[in-house]
Amino acid sequence: MKKRPMSRREFVRRSAALAGASLAARTILLDPTPFQASAGPVPPSDTLRFGIIGTGVRGCELLQASRHVNGVECVAACDLYDSRHLAARECLGKQVPVTKEYRELVERKDIDALIVATSDHWHCRLVEEGVVAGKDVYCEKPMSHTVEEGFAMVDAMQKHNRIVQVGSQCRSSIVYAKAKEIFESGALGQVTAIEACIDRNDASGAWVYPIPPDASETTIDWERFLGDTPKRPFDSIRFFRWRCFRDYGEGLPGDLYVHMLTGIHYITGTNAPPLRAASVGGIFRWTENREVPDMIWTLFEYPSFRLSLRCNLNNESPGMARCYGTKGTLEIKNDVLTFAPQNTEPQPEGYSILGWPEKLRKEYLEQWRKEHPVPLPGKYPLTQSAETFQAAPSYDYQIDHMNNFMESVRSRRPAVEDAVYGNNTSIACHMANYSHFNKTFAVWNEGARKIQGS
Ligand SMILES: NC(=O)c1ccc[n+]([C@@H]2O[C@H](COP(=O)([O-])OP(=O)(O)OC[C@H]3O[C@@H](n4cnc5c(N)ncnc54)[C@H](O)[C@@H]3O)[C@@H](O)[C@H]2O)c1
Repeated sequence: MKKRPMSRREFVRRSAALAGASLAARTILLDPTPFQASAGPVPPSDTLRFGIIGTGVRGCELLQASRHVNGVECVAACDLYDSRHLAARECLGKQVPVTKEYRELVERKDIDALIVATSDHWHCRLVEEGVVAGKDVYCEKPMSHTVEEGFAMVDAMQKHNRIVQVGSQCRSSIVYAKAKEIFESGALGQVTAIEACIDRNDASGAWVYPIPPDASETTIDWERFLGDTPKRPFDSIRFFRWRCFRDYGEGLPGDLYVHMLTGIHYITGTNAPPLRAASVGGIFRWTENREVPDMIWTLFEYPSFRLSLRCNLNNESPGMARCYGTKGTLEIKNDVLTFAPQNTEPQPEGYSILGWPEKLRKEYLEQWRKEHPVPLPGKYPLTQSAETFQAAPSYDYQIDHMNNFMESVRSRRPAVEDAVYGNNTSIACHMANYSHFNKTFAVWNEGARKIQGS
């Protein structure tokens, strides 16, 4: 009986069902052992004493994380706003000494390490002063506020031989470590295109945070917050929503691109800034009190692949990163890693020979089959089933990242995400902004250590 030709609709339906079946293939739970940290108990004599500068949202998260790290103790907290002293104490569950003067922490001889979790415009100064005073420093991302600052921080780390770790925690994630392993195995083939995005659709995601009712010049050291930035009268919006203003932050690239860049540099083994960047963005919806885009899209040129990054504060979609290779696709979505191989078994040409006369077509196919004997079993998989990898729901890569820092301090092994690493990802963020604000390609001039337009 002659087979009924498949309709287009049926073809699409069957393909979708097949893809679904293969995507559902198998999920592997990842081993939660952090790569660098010692999970076991630490003798009291080895307890690391750290101080924290900046106990806002992130500082409090880091203090919470530190409570899950063996052999560390927070002995001082500094913030410019009174209520954040209380917040720090609440996080730690103890009456740790608090101050608005960071130099008190820098000068204390009994402090081994500092955590810097201030707004970005203070990172460089605090890291520099910390390492000069002999402290190891965990500095939040993005490491630098400007390109010049980034190199100053690298120089300071190297000159004073200190551990500096930047706080983009996916560098310590077991999910990203697995992605790197798959990438390096060659299973993806040649990867030429990578894309990633983080999108949000609410006021909090757009940094339109509520202003606490006790915020005033009495409770906040406004002059210190301004630091080297232009003098202005007290402005609680600038203090609490500093990410929206270019004096203190770097907008979406500094806030969110940096995480994606950290992960992608890690997976791909990239240890330099991109060659070029081109951004388009705009302020479309969150129009009040904002100097930086609420949507930005950037194409980066790296030597062996091109990367597209997007952050949109006007639509919620799951954050994802995807590497497209000639042999398969690797995707990280909501911390689930999927590797989907593609069918690479050689096939005779089917499409373009439709325009050949039958005789030539037959000859071509006969010749092709002679030149391509049936492959040995196992050379090409019969089904292209995907594999997924996941960490246990309780897994927290922030704790691993903190653990890795403390272990570097103890062992003097270089930090997993040191200042050189953090400088490369920060430069990529500055290039994205340079391109957007100057409406030009941003070109990295390695010799001059500068971004230039083209
Ligand atoms: N790794 C992550 O996932 C992650 C998440 C959020 C924020 N961050 C980073 O953490 C840092 C802080 O962000 P946040 O959301 O906590 O901001 P925040 O505004 O909630 O807190 C920053 C705090 O720093 C304090 N501060 C500023 N300058 C200071 C100085 N000179 N001395 C002492 N205190 C000072 C402020 O008083 C403020 O309380 C930023 O660099 C941000 O990019 C990282």
